[in-house]
Amino acid sequence: PGEGPLAGRHVLVTAGPTHEPIDPVRYIANRSSGRQGFAVAGALARLGARVTLVAGPVTLPTPSGVTRIDVETARQMADAVQAALPADAAVMVAAVADWRVEAAGQKVKKDGGAAPALTLVENPDILATVAAGPDRPRLVVGFAAETEHVVDHATAKRTRKGADWIVANDVSADVFGGEANTVHLITADGVESWTRMTKDEVAEGLAQRIADALQGTA
Ligand code: C5P
Repeated sequence: PGEGPLAGRHVLVTAGPTHEPIDPVRYIANRSSGRQGFAVAGALARLGARVTLVAGPVTLPTPSGVTRIDVETARQMADAVQAALPADAAVMVAAVADWRVEAAGQKVKKDGGAAPALTLVENPDILATVAAGPDRPRLVVGFAAETEHVVDHATAKRTRKGADWIVANDVSADVFGGEANTVHLITADGVESWTRMTKDEVAEGLAQRIADALQGTA
């Protein structure tokens, strides 16, 4: 620590999916690999930031210089994020499950009768909570995975969630689990569409922009 444009800054990053248990042996998951979020954490650390990475269940190595906190569910992620504040910036890359299951305490058994119904309960929105909270980081960045009307949906999401920036991902292509990404950076000033590049390059570009945005701030 101590070198680079983000020296002395603390940046909080979320990454990966969450797993929402159905019972002690089953869960609901999503296709997030964690790669983009881990790349962002690594890029921020290379610029000198102290990085706390709150990671859902993924099989990725911890980027060098990053403090990693592993969680499983959205609620655990929300708690870990609150515990990691304050931060100068927060970058929420995780694909948090929108719903959790009203989980059974014991394994649900097949008993020859009707299939069990799952009752879904909405999870807390971690990004919106952080953006509205008393410890709001100076810069709050969200991601948005969209399959259509990418910029419009992400622009609306920026305002609705109280984020400063949204990085909008077009996931109609092969983004999940892949190496490449096509993103648009949406800020209060408008939209910047980046060319298709690797997730590492997206991370480098974003980390640099975060460094620029924090430069000269207290
Ligand atoms: O609403 P949507 O899930 O598309 O929003 C995506 C953005 O919001 C991402 O930055 C994601 O990390 C964040 N998010 C969150 N908590 C949730 C849902 C999404 O932090 N429960």
